[in-house]
Amino acid sequence: MFDFEKAVLGLDNLQLDNDYDEKTQLPSALGNSVRRLIKTPSSSNPPSQYNSDTDEPAPRPSKQQQTVVTIDHNYIASNQRKAIGKSDFTSLCVLGRGAFGKVHLVRHDKSKQLYAMKILKKASLIVHQANQLKTERQILEEVRHPFIVKLYYAFQTPDELHMVLEYAVGGELFRHLSHEGMFSEPMARFYAAELILALEHLHSLGIVYRDLKPENCLLDAQGHIILTDFGLSKVSMEGKTNTICGTVEYMSPEVLMGLEYDYVVDWWSLGILMYDMLTGSPPFTGSRKKTMDAILSKKIHMPYYFTADAKDLLSKLLRKNPNVRLGAKKNAVRRHPFFSKVNWKEMEERKGIPPILPVVTDPAAAENFDSQFTNQVIVGSPPDEEGKVHHHFRDFSFVESSLIA
Ligand code: ADE
Repeated sequence: MFDFEKAVLGLDNLQLDNDYDEKTQLPSALGNSVRRLIKTPSSSNPPSQYNSDTDEPAPRPSKQQQTVVTIDHNYIASNQRKAIGKSDFTSLCVLGRGAFGKVHLVRHDKSKQLYAMKILKKASLIVHQANQLKTERQILEEVRHPFIVKLYYAFQTPDELHMVLEYAVGGELFRHLSHEGMFSEPMARFYAAELILALEHLHSLGIVYRDLKPENCLLDAQGHIILTDFGLSKVSMEGKTNTICGTVEYMSPEVLMGLEYDYVVDWWSLGILMYDMLTGSPPFTGSRKKTMDAILSKKIHMPYYFTADAKDLLSKLLRKNPNVRLGAKKNAVRRHPFFSKVNWKEMEERKGIPPILPVVTDPAAAENFDSQFTNQVIVGSPPDEEGKVHHHFRDFSFVESSLIA
């Protein structure tokens, strides 16, 4: 069971970073600016892969170009006799790097299976980040959903914390968006629908995701969404929370103002993400201050080529007042006419046809990831030492139940 009390206890310390700019009275510590893919400029041509009139996907890359990755996690289960640790994996390359750590593509030596390993240096985690990480581990342990990343193992060495996650071989959704320039409405509808199902599932467990942004939306081998990075998620005690975190372009007005907020912040971010998909950039951009001012006060510009349903949906998701925002009432987002063609049951069963099939010739080559990361030399760290575990992280270790022999 999800350890609700522990998660909430740890999270109380998160209130530390409500730090306000004297002049603007806006929160100043809004997190490091995030890595953002360089996009090709928005073009007014509709994207090529989908026929926007019929919702029919255009022909996709030939099957010969694909390598199907079948993962037999049971191999590990039936062969696992000792606790899993760092020495059981070989790092192949870096997939990404964040403020507090990095993600490696790793191979489990015995089973040869590939995973994404999130590695965090304990020394670089100040107390509230450590608590946040415990929450991420706990959330991932609890959550099982077709569009949310799976956690297989968690373990630690004296210096590092490790989470062994499902490898999203298709890379970031927005890497594909940057190739296309922008998505058609049917394409955006497909990704939004899978994200809605993931967010509704989290909300039903009392979890606010809080960090919906392009780099957290990955694709699996078939092109379905894998929502990753729960470093900023928070379990809400039926109530509201007022911790400041996240990426400024995707932040809702109430988060920026340091007001209490709840699940509806995720529907705001979905609106921004959809706008980004449909136009090639988020609606409010510029310097941080300019972006924040625009989020708080500027009216959203709707491009002429949006359909009436898209305009209506985005204007309702991006209402500055959270009490009247679409999503404040249960199931309201999925019921919007923009999604009237979506068969939600089939979507949940992964029966929707993904508009993009990621090209994967060799999963170990991480070809859908930025060479800025994958070309980085892997720096080794000291081997595991048994028994030396910082008390703060003593409950961190985890093995997915289906993997226990
Ligand atoms: N799984 C979890 N995080 C991932 C990442 N950053 N890249 C690829 N697969 C992942």
